[in-house]
Amino acid sequence: ARSTRESMFVVNNFARDYFADILKNHPNGKSIGLAYFRQRGFRDDTIAKFQLGYSIDARSGLANEALKKGFKKEFLVKTGLCYEADNGDIHDRFWSRVIFPVHTLSGKVVAFGGRTLNTENKRIAKYVNSPESEIYTKSNELYGIFFAKQAIVKADNCFLVEGYTDVISMHQAGVENVVSSSGTALTTGQIRLIHRFTDNITVLYDGDMAGIRASLRGIDMLLEEGMNVKVVLLPDGEDPDSFARKQNATSFQEYIQQNEKDFIRFKTSLLIDEAGEDPIKKAELIADIVKSISVIPEAIIRSVYIKETSQLLHISENILVAEVTKLKREEL
Ligand code: CTP
Ligand code: MN
Ligand code: MN
Ligand code: MN
Ligand code: MN
Repeated sequence: ARSTRESMFVVNNFARDYFADILKNHPNGKSIGLAYFRQRGFRDDTIAKFQLGYSIDARSGLANEALKKGFKKEFLVKTGLCYEADNGDIHDRFWSRVIFPVHTLSGKVVAFGGRTLNTENKRIAKYVNSPESEIYTKSNELYGIFFAKQAIVKADNCFLVEGYTDVISMHQAGVENVVSSSGTALTTGQIRLIHRFTDNITVLYDGDMAGIRASLRGIDMLLEEGMNVKVVLLPDGEDPDSFARKQNATSFQEYIQQNEKDFIRFKTSLLIDEAGEDPIKKAELIADIVKSISVIPEAIIRSVYIKETSQLLHISENILVAEVTKLKREEL
């Protein structure tokens, strides 16, 4: 007999194929879902590769089809694809949305994200995502990792973006070493997943306040795990998807190369305008950088960054060493 987990994967595969089939063959799937992806610039080979789909505007479209095919209600509910109403009826979680299957490292479908095309209505959540389940622990998965792992090894670097569409558009722009934490705060489990393939990460979050804040939050966690961290700030209001579409593959990659900064230069460039000639503000910036350096596990890497900070911000190396040492001791 199949285990519960196996049955859940089988149901997820069925749902993935069902949504993909609707996108390609159902009249509404084609005229609404497929048209939407194409209008966003997604090529048909990209749509096929990421196994994108569409869920029709019906409360139980998937549920009815799955039950008809003999799938058990239990597993439709356990995967979070459906839920049971008080009267025992079974309803779909995803309807009237384009569908992004979420794959594990080995390519198994553990979850789905669904985006509404009706973003005018602010009462409809832009994205609906599968809940956690016996096969899905959100904090240990990264969207795109299955499609990115080889490219990460080859480039010895991984780009980290916010969203599903950022991963997909970057693939199309020829940058395949990219994964997304899908809107939620980066976790240690996700960082360790990347660390299996490379020591180097480039954070490429949305070019807005939320993206900058999330980058700053992620930096210390990444450093603590022994990753080398670079950050690229996108032009205001752009995310990797929107920006990649305005560029060609070459100019997009050039922008990244020209704008990637190590975490010290990133923090400095963000705060130096604000700090200006104010010595207190400058001291706060230095304290902030010192704090980040102090979480780095490797002494040699810490000393390299101390030297850089000393040169960049004209502060004595000895003072920086003393401060980092003090914070390191407090850690223990
Ligand atoms: N997200 C989510 N739930 C929301 C909003 C966002 O789960 N209500 C996640 C999704 O994984 C999304 C990511 O956070 O891809 C980034 O959010 P956002 O920048 O708002 O969306 P985009 O990915 O840019 O989507 P689009 O370009 O289609 O608007
Ligand atoms: Mn390492
Ligand atoms: Mn955003
Ligand atoms: Mn976007
Ligand atoms: Mn975005």
